Amino acid sequence: MNDKIERNDLCWCGSGKKYKICHSYIDEQIRMYKIKGCIVPDKKLLKTPTQIEGIRESGKVNTAVLDYISEKIQVGMTTNRINQFVYEKTRELGGQPATLGYEGFPKSVCTSINNEVCHGIPSDKAILQDGDIINVDVTTILNGYFADSSRMFCIGHVSAERQRLVDMTRKAIDIGLEQARPWNFLGDIGQAINDFARSCGYSVVREIGGHGIGIEFHEEPFVSFVSKKGTEMLLVPGMVFTIEPMINMGKADVLINRRNGWTIRTRDGKDSAQWEVTVLITDHGCEVLAN
Ligand code: MF3
Ligand code: CO
Ligand code: CO
Repeated sequence: MNDKIERNDLCWCGSGKKYKICHSYIDEQIRMYKIKGCIVPDKKLLKTPTQIEGIRESGKVNTAVLDYISEKIQVGMTTNRINQFVYEKTRELGGQPATLGYEGFPKSVCTSINNEVCHGIPSDKAILQDGDIINVDVTTILNGYFADSSRMFCIGHVSAERQRLVDMTRKAIDIGLEQARPWNFLGDIGQAINDFARSCGYSVVREIGGHGIGIEFHEEPFVSFVSKKGTEMLLVPGMVFTIEPMINMGKADVLINRRNGWTIRTRDGKDSAQWEVTVLITDHGCEVLAN
């Protein structure tokens, strides 16, 4: 049997278009970059139109859940209350929180306050105080498709120092998105974000990063935000991954909470911020699917 797809055959992605006007150019580019020695995505990382539509819908739910949290969050609220809101809203919109039971994670959302970097576990004991900054990280499964995004919230009156960390970390996302286009590399995103963070006097967490997403929660590739321009995986239309830098006011080093096995905090105890978007590489740039 001959598996080779001919130019006039229907494209493998299920678009219903002929191969020659659909993925033939992309496949050829990938082949050339691979010959040059670049890291290129496996075909399974290129989402089909049907998959993209599914992830887009999941992203809408994820974004709506965070919008809902932004209306509710306030001084005196426990992070477990945020967890309840996330669970209820996600279910109301037809989704399922992806973190609930994920590798044993016990809650529907991650809530990370001040010097907590990520993977904070909602609790009745964690009460939001005036001046806190918190990351709320939501991941939705809708009809089997995953979307993941997080935002920072400033509780009451935060210091100018904290406000700047939050604002600059949000800006780092936009700087990363500017590099998210076909035939760039993941390292272009990583270096742009790292350079910017350092120019602000901050540091970027190395051990944890973004990830491919869509059919599973965490797919290939790992997305580093301390990587170098022109390195790491080639960006190709149809790839879906997260941009989610964790930016520290002090040093980059982090520690994991040994009691709960999840919560990551800064080693020096200084504050950390993170924003996350799920992004699709399109033919000419990118589309944010969840924010
Ligand atoms: N949402 C996180 C991310 O951005 C992952 C959380 S996994 C959990 O990748 F188990 F900690 F919830
Ligand atoms: Co993520
Ligand atoms: Co996330």
